Amino acid sequence: MTGERSHLGVTAEPVTLRPGIRTFKPRRTRITTRAEQALVEYAGLIIEMGDQPLDPATVWGADIPWVLEIGFGDGRATAAMAAADPSTALLAIDVHTPGVGELLAQVGDAGLENVRVMEADAITVLERMVPAHSLTQVRSYFPDPWPKARHHKRRLVQPAIVDLMHSRLVPGGTWHLATDWEEYAVSILECFDQDPHWEGGAIPRPEGRPITRFERRALRDGRTVVDLLFTATG
Ligand SMILES: C[S@@+](CC[C@H](N)C(=O)[O-])C[C@H]1O[C@@H](n2cnc3c(N)ncnc32)[C@H](O)[C@@H]1O
Repeated sequence: MTGERSHLGVTAEPVTLRPGIRTFKPRRTRITTRAEQALVEYAGLIIEMGDQPLDPATVWGADIPWVLEIGFGDGRATAAMAAADPSTALLAIDVHTPGVGELLAQVGDAGLENVRVMEADAITVLERMVPAHSLTQVRSYFPDPWPKARHHKRRLVQPAIVDLMHSRLVPGGTWHLATDWEEYAVSILECFDQDPHWEGGAIPRPEGRPITRFERRALRDGRTVVDLLFTATG
């Protein structure tokens, strides 16, 4: 990776995807009243996009392990995982406003103190706001598979983003993914196989990972779900 680094190791310039290429497509879904209210009521749990690196110790307190989830959808699985593990700080990021409101409603109503939420492109957040070698885990459950070959450049797992993730994880930190798209799973495995800075592969589904909304749909349609775990080595 190239790019100038600040004292906290955050790259100053975006270095990953080409301009205009995004890993998501804008969706129009009606926002529920509950989600709309939560966006106001629990606004204190929202972190705004900025140019300055986040200091996890200021947001959550010193020495708490810090995890990032990219693309939480309706946030139900996210809130359940956070409730089950209150000693882990979670920054949950999605671009979809109704989902942000839904997650805030669940987190706020349950009184969870370990979750903060961003409505943003997680790649930009990683580039601008996540200090180098600070995250203990990244989670991406059912990232958009972008099945058409001409859209593969939009996939979350591609060499430039894999490099970016490595630079933000502590040594020994992990990237946990799940997908229901077999060809994407193969492409993910190939991508990590070609990179000597990672170890890992497919794993049995961890008990602590709740079934997500997209996963439920995949299982109903008869697709097989694969969990993948990769560890950032030195
Ligand atoms: C297929 S959905 C899966 C949602 C959820 N994890 C589930 O399994 O139900 C993928 C989600 O990733 C989000 N997403 C894709 N690229 C993203 C990015 N660069 N930053 C933040 N969110 C992103 C989309 O908005 C969408 O909510």
